[in-house]
Amino acid sequence: MTRRNVILRIENVSKRFESLRAVDDVSLAVPEGHIVGLIGPNGSGKSTLLNVTSGVLRADAGRIIFDGQDIVHRSADEIFQLGLARSFQDPSLFFRMTVLDNILLPIKEQDGEDPIRAPLHRTWEKQEARFATVAAGALQRLDLDTHFDSLASDLSGGQMKLLELGRSLTSAPKMLLLDEPTAGIAPNLARNIFEQIEHLRRTRGLTFLIVEHRLGLLFDFVDQVYVMHLGRLIAHGPPADIAANAKVREIYFGE
Ligand SMILES: Nc1ncnc2c1ncn2[C@@H]1O[C@H](COP(=O)(O)OP(=O)(O)OP(=O)(O)O)[C@@H](O)[C@H]1O
Ligand SMILES: [Mg+2]
Repeated sequence: MTRRNVILRIENVSKRFESLRAVDDVSLAVPEGHIVGLIGPNGSGKSTLLNVTSGVLRADAGRIIFDGQDIVHRSADEIFQLGLARSFQDPSLFFRMTVLDNILLPIKEQDGEDPIRAPLHRTWEKQEARFATVAAGALQRLDLDTHFDSLASDLSGGQMKLLELGRSLTSAPKMLLLDEPTAGIAPNLARNIFEQIEHLRRTRGLTFLIVEHRLGLLFDFVDQVYVMHLGRLIAHGPPADIAANAKVREIYFGE
């Protein structure tokens, strides 16, 4: 097996909510270009770990190295600018804006567009055309191009999840943290989302850390899996080993 660079390394990270140890001394490593799964029963600390990694919450202890830099004390915005993007368990779309505007907004933010000066700028038209090209490409890849002028609130659950994935991609990230990318959507669309993820890994070399409750689906796409239970990591390995792991079977199936 070829050795890959580790793009994300979480070392001994802890996060408490008062007396609750939501994340308790967790360490994990994600190699560049891999799709890594993070599973565990409800309340085991998966979202909290993603929140700490993306700077939404501050870790109480530990180090997080992303692409060679310690990001544990960086803001969510700084971490995003370094190329680590994330999606949320509940879609964080602008529901009263169109699909196209939802895609355009992060592109414009990335470009540092100043809304007051932009209209005066000589390159404004050129810039708008470039934004539109990037947005159209993103919508086409996600099969959302025919819905470009629909309100985000009119999309199906699966389309909202695809749009959220599209939004995080327009920032040209190196890595994505996805929190339940298929939650609440039909099984065939869920597979479609994972196929998009696999395609992005293959064509752009993107790295993924994915929280997912549909284990059968997840295990078809991931290189390795980490398992959390009550804030701690209890297992790590290739999906076949995790599926056969006695501790994992006990917490999932009471075996
Ligand atoms: N902001 C918060 N304040 C207090 N407690 C919290 C907060 N966020 C999460 N928790 C608690 O921390 C623990 C871990 O929650 P977390 O959301 O990380 O779990 P999860 O593994 O993502 O669960 P699920 O699979 O249900 O999404 C839970 O007991 C939860 O109630
Ligand atoms: Mg969660």
